[in-house]
Amino acid sequence: MESIHDVIELEKACFAYHWTEEQFRLGLERNAFHIFGVREEGRLVGYLAFSMIVDEMEILNLAVHPDFRRRGLARRLLAAVMDVCREKGMQSGFLDVKESNAPAISLYEDFGFQRNGRRKRYYPDTKEDALLYRYDFSGE
Ligand SMILES: CC(C)(COP(=O)(O)OP(=O)(O)OC[C@H]1O[C@@H](n2cnc3c(N)ncnc32)[C@H](O)[C@@H]1OP(=O)(O)O)[C@@H](O)C(=O)NCCC(=O)NCCS
Repeated sequence: MESIHDVIELEKACFAYHWTEEQFRLGLERNAFHIFGVREEGRLVGYLAFSMIVDEMEILNLAVHPDFRRRGLARRLLAAVMDVCREKGMQSGFLDVKESNAPAISLYEDFGFQRNGRRKRYYPDTKEDALLYRYDFSGE
């Protein structure tokens, strides 16, 4: 369980438009999502927030600190989360990603997420389209 404070600090380093402390606190209190983190020398440098509702998981956010990218940390986080989802009997996985976000798209496609839609002007900060992805656990 990561401290909300550490996650907020990391969010600020990674996103211009980031979740607030209140959003994290409420989500965690309601058990609406879970957070996996990765630390280097005690410092939180990456995290993945996801939900599991009945048999569907959704990746809500994934970020690695700019100084720690391209070292396989996001890959490690995503692999750990997918393992938990398998153990918990998830059938499908969902996520959305900005269409300009080539690093994240490459990562998700590498893990077997398949593009199944687009939402026009979905993101409030850039008004970019969202690409929608799905993962089929039952097809493994
Ligand atoms: C996307 C992000 C989490 C990747 O983190 P990371 O720890 O650097 O990723 P990894 O080192 O585990 O790389 C895993 C794979 O992602 C892809 N990838 C990561 N960075 C990439 C880049 N700059 N360009 C192209 N592909 C990239 C590659 O497929 C890579 O595999 P490879 O190293 O074998 O080629 C990181 O760039 C980030 O925090 N970005 C800002 C936040 C964000 O956009 N989050 C996603 C929201 S949906």
